[in-house]
Amino acid sequence: MNTKILSDIPLSPIGLGCYAISGVYGQKDPNQFTKIIKEAFDLGIKFFDTADQYGDAEEVLGKAVKPFRYQIAIASKIGLTNKGSVNLTKKYIISACEASLKRLQTDYLDLYQIHYDDPKTPVSETIEALELLKKEGKIRHYGVGHLPKKRILEYLELGNISTVLMELSAVATKQYQQIHPLQTEYNFGIIGFSTTGRGLLTGKITPGHQFAPNDIRNVDPLFQKAKFASGLRVAEKLKELGKKYGKTPVQVAIAWVLAQPGVVTALIGPSKSEHLRENIGAIGWRLEVEDLQNLNQFLKEEEKKLVRETKQEIYNILKNNLNSDPEQAIKDLIYVIENSIEIELVNSKDVIPLFQQLWKIKKRPDGLQIQPLMQIQKELSKLIK
Ligand SMILES: NC(=O)c1ccc[n+]([C@@H]2O[C@H](COP(=O)([O-])OP(=O)(O)OC[C@H]3O[C@@H](n4cnc5c(N)ncnc54)[C@H](OP(=O)(O)O)[C@@H]3O)[C@@H](O)[C@H]2O)c1
Repeated sequence: MNTKILSDIPLSPIGLGCYAISGVYGQKDPNQFTKIIKEAFDLGIKFFDTADQYGDAEEVLGKAVKPFRYQIAIASKIGLTNKGSVNLTKKYIISACEASLKRLQTDYLDLYQIHYDDPKTPVSETIEALELLKKEGKIRHYGVGHLPKKRILEYLELGNISTVLMELSAVATKQYQQIHPLQTEYNFGIIGFSTTGRGLLTGKITPGHQFAPNDIRNVDPLFQKAKFASGLRVAEKLKELGKKYGKTPVQVAIAWVLAQPGVVTALIGPSKSEHLRENIGAIGWRLEVEDLQNLNQFLKEEEKKLVRETKQEIYNILKNNLNSDPEQAIKDLIYVIENSIEIELVNSKDVIPLFQQLWKIKKRPDGLQIQPLMQIQKELSKLIK
């Protein structure tokens, strides 16, 4: 595919993401990531993705790739400030880009992506800042991240968008279905993230799996209730199909992402060498057309079933008393919010303030209390009918 981004920057079908350096999947030694980054380069990975909000990831990446910086492409992201607010004003973008370049020890970024939306700043102002950075040679391309479709369209109309970043895996197809049809008109490349389903599609995560206490997957809806059960069925299907090719479930999962039209790179985020090597085994072969069609049909049916089941679960959580364990209650409310956005029971901008409140409650130093959670449940019941 002749996308703008492919024309002048080094890109590999698989890109290595640095989100895990922030500790999102459990706290790990930064040296482990330095080794993974170097090993990935030795194995042919040319595209590295990070963000200013991934803890020390920019510093770690910049230091690790210094010896081969000019042979790779670096992508970073913008939008969230250190105080947790969104900011895409021209002034903020210019200064945040300088700070990212410094941390990455480089004088240019190959790709700069809008990470979070800032509804208060006009898209035209953000584009102006990005165009200026391009003119000055500080960025080579810019793209948008996982924003609502309406907002992505505004960027596509007003700017020179090279890529759209989205969650894309056999258990996350929604955004691709919405955005892919726009590619013919706007000629951008799709970058998929969480292509292993944050580990779910490896077949190594089974019911009762214990994540580290600070691992985001403890509250991630993908690992709860009907969504988890569906993910396990998908992983099983990938395992079955993999037998024919002598491939593991996750290799089939990533190969499926790379088989989707318009995808330029599939991002993976392992911290272990054996996982990196396993995932790279997704390239150099292809799923046959008939297998791809059968798998797509299976995923379509699975998705329909899941929508029915999650709707029922959402209504049950909102209608009944919240679980008396606040830890479980908060997981249930996150499940309700994320899924009701995904299946379009509610407008994201209406529930995001409640989502932010939930995180504040979760981090309260005096511990989790059930009372404020009940209040959020009440607010959600008014919005989700
Ligand atoms: N996740 C997001 O919300 C998000 C949003 C925007 C952009 N991105 C970008 O996309 C990149 C990739 O996303 P992601 O980190 O969610 O990717 P991912 O590869 O789907 O998830 C990473 C998790 O899956 C596990 N895993 C991966 N391959 C495995 C294997 N073969 N066997 C066992 N476990 C395996 C890793 O375990 P180990 O650590 O044990 O290897 C890690 O816990 C990010 O690093 C970031 O640059 C992510």
